[in-house]
Amino acid sequence: MPTTPGPIPHHVAIIMDGNGRWAKQRGLPRIEGHRRGVETVRNMIDATKAMGVRYLTLYAFSVENWKRPPAEVGALMGLLEYFLKREIAALVRDKIRLRTIGRTHELPEAVRRQLDAAVAATAHFTDYTLVLALNYGSRTEVVDAARAYAAALAAGTIQADDTSWESFARHLNTADLPDPDLVIRTSGEYRVSNFLLLQAAYAEFVFTPVLWPDFRPAELAAAVEAYGKRERRFGQTSEQLNKPDAPR
Ligand code: FPP
Repeated sequence: MPTTPGPIPHHVAIIMDGNGRWAKQRGLPRIEGHRRGVETVRNMIDATKAMGVRYLTLYAFSVENWKRPPAEVGALMGLLEYFLKREIAALVRDKIRLRTIGRTHELPEAVRRQLDAAVAATAHFTDYTLVLALNYGSRTEVVDAARAYAAALAAGTIQADDTSWESFARHLNTADLPDPDLVIRTSGEYRVSNFLLLQAAYAEFVFTPVLWPDFRPAELAAAVEAYGKRERRFGQTSEQLNKPDAPR
């Protein structure tokens, strides 16, 4: 396992891209790329945990992914079910809490059953959380949150003069999760694709050309090292951060 100097991000979020291209380059069906992508998921859980990362969020299926050919959507759902069935014992053994974000109630019943079982079996773990973004998209999340927020305002559980980002954020899927510190996107694309748009407001981004099935602990270590060299200012100046007594 390569060493990684510098601060370790508390929460890493990954847009796992490039499975289709990985397969195409080898003359294989796209699903073979997704299958290899599942093995990278397993390796990244181990690698991030070993580094001291506390939260790993993986963009596994977006609300827009339903537009893919039905055979690919079906295969992705099958892989998800297979992964959950296969990994539940390891998640418990390794004390990994599984969480989801997204409209998971719209997933096929067989997947929901595995998800519910894995989430319930791991709910009490606190050291490391794996968050699967499933049927997730920031815009639908905001619409759902706005509806819940409006209902809370109408019911009087939130007062109109008490509105704030903090009280709104409690209605997002990520209410009990910290914001991501580092967002990684594989496969050389420079997009955020409707992923954690609000939560990543102050995240650092690392884009790598490596396709997801080829993403290894060394690539993760390189991304974390790049993160460690960034100065996160959260709207302040460099001088303020480096000299706390400097005039503001
Ligand atoms: C993007 O590659 C990848 C996806 C849309 C799905 C990601 C899913 C997995 C890695 C497997 C299932 C996940 C878990 C957590 C078990 P792409 O198909 O868009 O690649 P391309 O851009 O090269 O076509």
